[in-house]
Amino acid sequence: MKLKGKSAIVTGAGAGMGKAIAMLFAAEGAKVAASDIDQQALDAVVAEIQSAGGTATGVLADVANEADVRHLVDTTVKLYGSVDVLVNNAGIMDNFIPAGEVSNEQWERVLGINLNGPFYASRAALQVMLKQGKGVIVNNASIGGLFGARGGASYVVSKHGLIGLTKNIAATYGPKGIRANAIAPGGVNTNIGATITAPHPLGLEAIGRSGQGPMGEPDQIARVALFLASDDSSFVNGATVTADGGWTAH
Ligand SMILES: NC(=O)c1ccc[n+]([C@@H]2O[C@H](COP(=O)([O-])OP(=O)(O)OC[C@H]3O[C@@H](n4cnc5c(N)ncnc54)[C@H](O)[C@@H]3O)[C@@H](O)[C@H]2O)c1
Repeated sequence: MKLKGKSAIVTGAGAGMGKAIAMLFAAEGAKVAASDIDQQALDAVVAEIQSAGGTATGVLADVANEADVRHLVDTTVKLYGSVDVLVNNAGIMDNFIPAGEVSNEQWERVLGINLNGPFYASRAALQVMLKQGKGVIVNNASIGGLFGARGGASYVVSKHGLIGLTKNIAATYGPKGIRANAIAPGGVNTNIGATITAPHPLGLEAIGRSGQGPMGEPDQIARVALFLASDDSSFVNGATVTADGGWTAH
């Protein structure tokens, strides 16, 4: 078991990659604080983990709301006595809306969930991890955080920002025993695809004719998250691991 006895927060754990990560971590011995905005989905994930013999608690939290996130971290410490692993996974897409057309509301919503959320959670968890003298942060970014045309303006900016946050935390807190790494998934079969409801408003030209790469499954990303959360990656810090089935290789 790679995470025996460790406590792990997973945001966006109600579906998709977050659910797969919560389930795999619990199977690997972690005590999981599974968090989401969807209570029903959370209840189902927690029940599934517990019926498989794992340990999990559901904590309702909107990552864009700082008070919710603080409550999530505090609750985890109260329940499990530590925050050994934080997985900032919750995120939304932006329907490929380009910079010239995105409204303030759309921009702030995407940045609020995809970037402010991981920042709030990391800041709160870092206070706990510093006292522990150890901890691991895994940020679920995207290949949209590495290239310009795998999302709209707000999504691409939020994920580039998340990779920047990852590197800054790694560089600053590495000497204090805390590691932070990011995953850059390509296309993964989750509910997020259903939120892309329109063709690109400026046509395919605007997204660089990148087309659609191969699709992966949530568990394939959970395996990468497990590597980054466990001691198997003890010398990996500040890295972004691309898991896209080769989409960005060509
Ligand atoms: N699916 C892909 O192709 C893909 C590719 C690259 C990166 N990602 C990233 O992976 C992460 C997970 O996405 P997914 O594809 O599993 O999505 P998903 O839509 O299947 O699941 C996301 C979960 O996050 C929850 N959530 C949404 N907003 C939230 C909020 N404000 N606070 C807390 N929870 C919230 C949802 O209720 C849902 O349970 C996201 O950060 C996404 O940007 C997805």
